[in-house]
Amino acid sequence: MTITTQATTPIPGQKPGTSGLRKKTRVFMQPGYLENFVQSVFNGVGGIEGRTLVLGGDGRHFNDRAAQIILKMAAAAGAARVIVGQGALLSTPAASHLIRLRKADGGLVLSASHNPGGPDADFGVKYNIANGGPAPEAVTDAIHRASEGLRAYRILDAADADLSRPGEARLGEMIVEVVDPVADYADLMERLFDFDTIRALLAGGFRLRFDAMHAITGPYARALLEDRLGAAPGSIVNATPLPDFGGGHPDPNPVWAADLVGAMTGPEAPDFGAASDGDGDRNMILGRDVYVTPSDSLAVLAANAHLAPGYADGLRGVARSMPTSRAVDVVADALGIPCHATPTGWKFFGNLLDAGQATLCGEESAGTGSDHVREKDGLWAVLLWLNILAVRGQSVAEIMADHWARFGRHYYSRHDYEGVEAEGAARLIDGLRARLATLPGQSFAGLAVTAAEDFAYHDPVDGSVSRAQGVQIGLEGGARVVFRLSGTGTEGATLRVYLELAEADPARLHDDPQTALAPVIAAAEALAGITRHTGRKAPDVIT
Ligand code: G1P
Ligand code: ZN
Repeated sequence: MTITTQATTPIPGQKPGTSGLRKKTRVFMQPGYLENFVQSVFNGVGGIEGRTLVLGGDGRHFNDRAAQIILKMAAAAGAARVIVGQGALLSTPAASHLIRLRKADGGLVLSASHNPGGPDADFGVKYNIANGGPAPEAVTDAIHRASEGLRAYRILDAADADLSRPGEARLGEMIVEVVDPVADYADLMERLFDFDTIRALLAGGFRLRFDAMHAITGPYARALLEDRLGAAPGSIVNATPLPDFGGGHPDPNPVWAADLVGAMTGPEAPDFGAASDGDGDRNMILGRDVYVTPSDSLAVLAANAHLAPGYADGLRGVARSMPTSRAVDVVADALGIPCHATPTGWKFFGNLLDAGQATLCGEESAGTGSDHVREKDGLWAVLLWLNILAVRGQSVAEIMADHWARFGRHYYSRHDYEGVEAEGAARLIDGLRARLATLPGQSFAGLAVTAAEDFAYHDPVDGSVSRAQGVQIGLEGGARVVFRLSGTGTEGATLRVYLELAEADPARLHDDPQTALAPVIAAAEALAGITRHTGRKAPDVIT
């Protein structure tokens, strides 16, 4: 077998965003595009000679071809071993676990997460480091720099590796080890949670519905919820992963998982509903007639995690992304533990988790996780919820009502303006930035600004500083609005407007969130001129 050195030229824009490099699938499929990026990863991390990598993805269109190309390039780069999920499949949390379990030097995860899949949709590649987590900015910057100076990539000229069954084989000098994508991850879950108590709950008539959205979690959910915990057959819907996710948008929120929301409504609905996304790291939690916002879910999990064996000793700290609601801050205060606010993106939690400064982390974008891996983890959140429900013997609605009565409620919503013209979106953000110093004291739609900043994060572990991470504006009465541009989109710009209102009045804990937030929504428009800058009268997606 020979190694070909292919001359190439740098491809502009190979800069990893919030979560890896995401582009249109057809862009990734252009000859040399994936190859350039993968070689840039290998070069950017200082070479992979003699190293062990983990490889797998969410099964979207091009996953199988990309895996073969990466294997041949890893072999050409002198990697010692690549551990691959059978069929080139691995959920993101399972990949993170495998990197840690097998003490690999890093891994490549093929996914565009919750973005749709298919030849005309999205693809992505993310590099994770030896702690199992997404590469931090210093590493993604090095990858980007490597891409800018790339002159050649190297690839082994060989037949495709057989990834169809577990086992080991050689590809050139490199070992390709194919593993069951589910088993190790499922074992980890069984160590963290009280499976006996959850099994008893399910045996006692408690009904659940898990919507895998035709994405990667189908086989994981079947193994855990049905096989190991005894949920009734049929509890997992849309359980077969498909390369185009059945034409759907595998994002577990009330808009894209509207089917599940419908199924969870009314007296005949199951007791518990949940969904995960394309690559299995996000989650949505529902009870009968209740939707739990991700921010509230993080707060409830923090307040109750000690009920699960894996967290029986309590939490060392919690962390949330800055735009995530401050519901978890109130819980952390009550528990007497620190609460960190980081920029958006799971990569910022890695240092805190490694240093033992946070045990639980979460983002308003349906991501929750803990120090068991270094990614957010959809099924982990589902199992922790089930563990809490089983121990407390209450419904989801009762748990939420108790939580709000004790800690107050943080009404929360995110308004997304998708695919807007990039210049207008940038003008909106820049306009706010330019006015930050003068905003405090001014009123917008009747609400006075109490604080205004362009969020910068000083990592307490490695001292790095990440600036310009979103414009955060405090408003009177415990309200807040955050404006930032998405770093995961593949078309135009997506403006995210995060809205929050803290409410402690016991008489006002059960209002409709959009109604409760109406004054904050009006203030956001008055502050930023969303319609003027984007030409949009209303958001495309409200979560
Ligand atoms: C979005 C979410 C962010 C999440 C990321 C990857 O990034 O907002 O919380 O970590 O996807 O799942 P964004 O598009 O906002 O940059
Ligand atoms: Zn995801």
